[in-house]
Amino acid sequence: MSRRVFIFDTTLRDGEQVPGAKLNIEQKLIVARQLERLGVDVIEAGFPASSPGDAKAVNLVAQKIKRPIIAGLARSLKNDIDILWNSIKDAERPRIHVFLAASDIHIKKKLRLDRERALEMAVEAVKYAKRYCSDVEFSPEDATRADFDYLCRVVEATIKAGATVINIPDTVGYSIPEEFGALIRNLCERVPATDKITVSVHCHNDLGLATANTIAAIQNGATQVECTVNGIGERAGNAALEEIVMILKTRPQHFDAEVGINTTEIVPTSHLVSRMMNLPVQPNKAIVGSNAFAHSSGIHQDGILKDRRTYEIIRPEDVGAQKHLLVLTARSGRKAVRQKLSELGYDLADEVFEQVYERFLVLADKKKEITAEDLKSIVEVELTKVPEIYSFVKMVVTTQAMSGVDLPLAILTIKNKNEEITQASVGNGPVDAVFKCINQITGLPINLLDYRVESVTSSTEALGEAMVKIEINGEVVSGRATSQDVIEASARAYLNGINCYFALNT
Ligand code: KIV
Ligand code: ZN
Repeated sequence: MSRRVFIFDTTLRDGEQVPGAKLNIEQKLIVARQLERLGVDVIEAGFPASSPGDAKAVNLVAQKIKRPIIAGLARSLKNDIDILWNSIKDAERPRIHVFLAASDIHIKKKLRLDRERALEMAVEAVKYAKRYCSDVEFSPEDATRADFDYLCRVVEATIKAGATVINIPDTVGYSIPEEFGALIRNLCERVPATDKITVSVHCHNDLGLATANTIAAIQNGATQVECTVNGIGERAGNAALEEIVMILKTRPQHFDAEVGINTTEIVPTSHLVSRMMNLPVQPNKAIVGSNAFAHSSGIHQDGILKDRRTYEIIRPEDVGAQKHLLVLTARSGRKAVRQKLSELGYDLADEVFEQVYERFLVLADKKKEITAEDLKSIVEVELTKVPEIYSFVKMVVTTQAMSGVDLPLAILTIKNKNEEITQASVGNGPVDAVFKCINQITGLPINLLDYRVESVTSSTEALGEAMVKIEINGEVVSGRATSQDVIEASARAYLNGINCYFALNT
């Protein structure tokens, strides 16, 4: 019989550590629901001691998501573990995940400890966590750069202290597949107690090897893999869930391993995570990129028409990559819209649904056909809503001749605490002019880091979606908005980013 390899998803923890990718509490729950639908075994919902907001969000996930194990991360400190337990104790199957540095560079330079003290702290943390929860995972951080004998001692001692999962992180993405596979094999040989627990791996992608290292670990005995949707995560990211799963599914003869993933939910999950976290997926990304199943050369197209297997090793429908067809029109009632939303995986509270329905009607009046993509975009913008400190009122963009050159001139009105403020500004382009108006009205030190506009569907009357990443007083936040007018969508996205900043800081 095949071994079961458990998928531990850390999109909501390691993935959320990406600057500007922070989710609000409702968004976290929506992504967690989708991860449950995808069939992951463990959801690492966050790092509760990092902020009261995260503790609250992890607690909501723990209360609402029933099937997967709900894990949270804590440093090897009593206070972190207390906060974590408080957040996850309502879960049907909670897991405490504690970590502590194992490499000398981390132990000595970062923690200013010595190996023996670090070992003691790891053991104490596992024992302390065990008082709350039977399922305790321990990660010796930076394991791939640790002294191997010391790593074995740490693993042995933390298993003895009660750890049920030992996770070996390649924290800085330093390892290479042959070496990492051998590390897992040798560790299991040297520490026989690993037989009785789950051996996990957690690979980062600094050298582009996160997936390859994870696969090598599976071939050498790992039975849990930590990964994220679209491979998002610290720096170059983590091993990509979709890649690991589809490697195991496409080349099963090499692994004798099974996963519990519903692969048709892979692409919908990828889209949801990308939009919610404002992290675009590169077009050529394996499995989930927009070009992953696009055939452009004549020879390839000819082959595909004759037999898809000539150039396709995965059927797009197996990963849910087919586009949803036309869904609704202005005549669709509440029931039809609710039904479509539920097919798309959205189970909305009544008040959110009413707002979505209102926006649906406004758009359906302007646009004859509302597609699944339009509907998803409306819902996701609605869910990204934060209290509006500044709200869009109206805008005119024209041109103004200055020293013989026509420059775009924006006249923007926004509302702040019931007061409407109008500002005019010229810029290097219409969007620049609009952003300058907002900067002048708010007086905030805003640094624009990223700005993108995409059409949600492909027609001239399509909904335009604008996304911004801005930095205010050292904090990076994202904003998003849709409108049929892309300049208006840009202004609204910029204001949404500012409102997110206030939501996080008040
Ligand atoms: O990369 C890492 O080492 C981690 C641990 C906390 C598991 O994310
Ligand atoms: Zn990590």
